[in-house]
Amino acid sequence: MYSEKVMDHFQNPRNVGEIENASGVGTVGNAKCGDIMRIFLDIDDETKVIKDCKFKTFGCGAAVATSSMATELVKGKTIEEALKVTNKAVMEALDGLPPVKVHCSLLAEEAIHAALWDYAEKHDMKIEGLSKPKSDIHEDEEDEEEY
Ligand code: FES
Repeated sequence: MYSEKVMDHFQNPRNVGEIENASGVGTVGNAKCGDIMRIFLDIDDETKVIKDCKFKTFGCGAAVATSSMATELVKGKTIEEALKVTNKAVMEALDGLPPVKVHCSLLAEEAIHAALWDYAEKHDMKIEGLSKPKSDIHEDEEDEEEY
């Protein structure tokens, strides 16, 4: 059901932990499943390159694997490039996720956006293409469901 890459990132997640005095921190939850994710970013103020990225998650295996891969993908990228790391890109890098687990990958994308938003607010700057992130991605999902 899960690709080898998903299993690998679930069993050996990369970049787990916290960054002290992080440049930006973002926390996002999904009220439906109760899972929560927090992302810490260390950003170089001059170059705007993400020097380090760590995550903590209280969530399912797919959430762990997607956050692990997402942190790997944004590390070393500029803010602009990091914005292109969508949940789709993360899923592709993991060789896919089962359809019922696709929503889990949204946590990582939203948490990164929330951390970038936090950075922008602290520095009184605007990041092109970044809108205020939600603290609960469940609101989004509901729109997609059919009744
Ligand atoms: Fe909640 Fe996966 S079931 S993030």
